Amino acid sequence: PNDRAEDETERGLRVADRGFLNTAVIESSITYIDGEKGVLRYRGYPIEQLAEKSTFIECAYLLIYGALPTRSQLVHFEREVLLHGIMHADAKEFFGAFRYDAHPMAMLTSAFAYLGSYYGEANPSLQGQTLYTKCAKGDSEAFQNMDKQIFRLIGKATTLAAMAYRVRQGREFVVPPTGMSYTESFLYQLDHLSPTDSFSASPSTSPSPYKPHPVLARALDILFILHADHEMNASSTTVLQTGSSLPDPYSAVAAGCASLYGPLHGGANEAVIRMLVAIGSPENVPAYLAAVKRREKVLSGFGHRVYKTSDPRSFIIRKIADEVFAVTGPDPLLDTAMALHDAALKDEYFVSRKLGPNVDFWSGLIYRAMGFPMDFFPVLFVVPRVVGWVAHWRQMMLSPEGVKIWRPKQIYIGPSERPYVAVDERE
Ligand code: ACO
Repeated sequence: PNDRAEDETERGLRVADRGFLNTAVIESSITYIDGEKGVLRYRGYPIEQLAEKSTFIECAYLLIYGALPTRSQLVHFEREVLLHGIMHADAKEFFGAFRYDAHPMAMLTSAFAYLGSYYGEANPSLQGQTLYTKCAKGDSEAFQNMDKQIFRLIGKATTLAAMAYRVRQGREFVVPPTGMSYTESFLYQLDHLSPTDSFSASPSTSPSPYKPHPVLARALDILFILHADHEMNASSTTVLQTGSSLPDPYSAVAAGCASLYGPLHGGANEAVIRMLVAIGSPENVPAYLAAVKRREKVLSGFGHRVYKTSDPRSFIIRKIADEVFAVTGPDPLLDTAMALHDAALKDEYFVSRKLGPNVDFWSGLIYRAMGFPMDFFPVLFVVPRVVGWVAHWRQMMLSPEGVKIWRPKQIYIGPSERPYVAVDERE
């Protein structure tokens, strides 16, 4: 017996929607997905066109502000974002306090929350009338303040990610450079040593001899475009859920980062590589698929809550993989990946459940070919997804109805009221 029946009469219609399969939590004009047809658009623009013609920083502007920028808007936005990449020197001590083998996602999640400790003006509880209420009333100073938090979050995402990368290697941090694109700047700060890196002929003219390879930099820029937003994915929902109680946006982004860490979300590309390594070679694919069908294993990189066909991003990523492998040489796991991919797409078990490859199936192979360690893969997802998070956060903060705290209902299935029993009288 429980209080369910009593509760039932009081509450009217209440539906337990486990996993939010059928609950829309917001109205949004940012990203459109048709999961049956495999369509993805940012602010109306097809992802295929953006991946081919746009840049990550332009897409960031589009997602956040709703329109493609003019030349001067783009220059201003890029300059502000890159300018805000610089991190206070104190951050060195912060990163130095982690264990030598700390997971970069643990460091990055903490670092976003830490970032909030620098910017009291972003914390609504420190203000009489909140920043966001002022924005909603059209106060231009409040808008500038909000933009500043956005520039900082996007700009510093690369810096913090690079710090989490380098601290593990016991290497000094690199100050964000000038004169490079967002993605090049990120690669430069990582000073990431992939097998194909080129070095400038005259290191003395530059603080570092490292030059990102143009094909790899463009490949990463496109991957960033593809990962920038995906409407109400788990981490963006987490950012909004957290943001709805009006903390500063750094805290909300830290919560999103924690959500993305899981293997069912941003950790899936790492899981794909572990799966491919475990399979070992194409002839072991049938045995692995049989184990998936017995529910002993998961086919990582397949399936999606929204797409009931192939994820449109997976086609674009497949093409990028070929371009990257042409530079780096093919990944030894590629044959196994192709065999697994093709076999799953022909198998009735996966076909009947409408399970196709998602964005993560190929992205891990690209990151691996570029020489990134596996536990850094989710970080490479977080950096671009910060854009989606701040776009959703800004939209919610500026909603004409104001922000309403997200406080869902539950259906209680526990015991009815019962008297307390003293500890010595319990059986
Ligand atoms: N391998 C094997 N079976 C699967 C898989 C998979 N990857 N995904 C779904 N299924 C099966 C389920 O077992 C279920 O079968 P059943 O109806 O016989 O019980 C059916 O397909 C429907 O799947 P659900 O679990 O209900 O789908 P849901 O929408 O809840 O989960 C998810 C989506 C979490 C992405 C799931 O497909 C999965 O775990 N995939 C592997 C992890 C992954 O690649 N995640 C990345 C997602 S994309 C992103 O975050 C960028």
